[in-house]
Amino acid sequence: MNRDDPSAVYYPVSDLRITGGSGVLIRDSDGREFIDCASATFNLSLGYGHPAVINAMKEQADRLVHATSSFQTDVINRLSARLVSLAPKRLTKAHLKVSGGSTANEGAIKMAQHATGKRDVITLFRSHVGQTMAMAALSGNAFRKKSLPLVGIGGLQVPDPYCLRCFYGQQRDSCGLMCVDRLADFLEYASSGSVAAVLVEPISGNGGNVVPPDGYFAKLRELCDTFGIKLILDEIQTGIGRTGRMFAAEHFGVEPDAMTLGKGLGGSGAQVAGILASDELSGLPANDHSFTYGANLMSAAAALATLDVIDDPGFLANVRATGALILERLNALRPSLRCVADVRGVGLMIGVEIVDGEGRPSSELTNFLAHRAMDFGLVIRTSRYGQGNVLKIRPPLILTIDEAHLICDRFEALLRTHGH
Ligand SMILES: Cc1ncc(COP(=O)(O)O)c(C=O)c1O
Repeated sequence: MNRDDPSAVYYPVSDLRITGGSGVLIRDSDGREFIDCASATFNLSLGYGHPAVINAMKEQADRLVHATSSFQTDVINRLSARLVSLAPKRLTKAHLKVSGGSTANEGAIKMAQHATGKRDVITLFRSHVGQTMAMAALSGNAFRKKSLPLVGIGGLQVPDPYCLRCFYGQQRDSCGLMCVDRLADFLEYASSGSVAAVLVEPISGNGGNVVPPDGYFAKLRELCDTFGIKLILDEIQTGIGRTGRMFAAEHFGVEPDAMTLGKGLGGSGAQVAGILASDELSGLPANDHSFTYGANLMSAAAALATLDVIDDPGFLANVRATGALILERLNALRPSLRCVADVRGVGLMIGVEIVDGEGRPSSELTNFLAHRAMDFGLVIRTSRYGQGNVLKIRPPLILTIDEAHLICDRFEALLRTHGH
């Protein structure tokens, strides 16, 4: 067997072989370069090989790679304090002993269950909150569940605030936020009567870049308080500057009971995730949620370096400016390109909704465009693991204005060639 070929890799992989990357670019083995509009797995907030992150990891590697998380270390103490200082004020504790976003979400749920003595979790239609068995069971996509004999946890999926395709057929100016109001009916008639938490992304990452309308989170917070349910914000995609604020919660003015982080926290790819929790959610026994490679010291050093870069008003202003530019330029395409049904997003979390000639959502055309994007020097991923109709544009946050224009030039050329 050729030691370089992928025949021993369990899962199918693309023919494309990546050999390097720097900034917003990745390179393949044929020397082609692409702007990575997916920031790898939406996690390279600072792009490929950011020097501050790489140096922090090297320095920490020289000092200490691993110590069991039951001892304290300077770097974990510092990262915990830093995250709490940046977070919405109700969140006073950081739990970093998780192995990724999925186990961060599971930990936040356990905390809510422990605090309330209740069991079930509400998630939204189309939502993706991870791929452990429990998180797959809470997915808002049936295709996530159908191939696995899941050990389900009590979960309930409810309509998302997707105004363009409102589940209730309403218009935003007159709906009275039925998508929150009707949750009381779900609790009464469809739940087990024992609901511990609502787990929701501020803007759906995988579900189609759905941005909730004004007032959604205020009303959801109110409903949670009325029914004694804990509100967990999954900021695994939206957090750490992605929306032009440190956390998307700031855009919506919402105070959650817990928030989960992952992906972008590692800056240039360090494996780090965590849970931020309120006092009320403290007290989950240490051994009830603890993973060997959680609270990893090299990753925590990378996270601190990442926060140093992102927690800067100038840096976040650039995320808002480049994001606004992309939104404006892509929106300007709509009158001449019927395949573009909607362009929406906040900061550098942007989605372009693709429809067929009859105006129907088309995952086929969406996947085709994502595939052809490579010919135009762009890596673009689609919503709902290829089952959705949204092209996701989420480049690294270090994007310059010139690079933002380049993405738009290439994207327009792609749609004019292969769209309609
Ligand atoms: C919103 C959201 N939550 C949770 C997860 C799961 O994170 P991880 O893959 O690190 O387990 C993801 C991953 O795609 C995600 O997008």
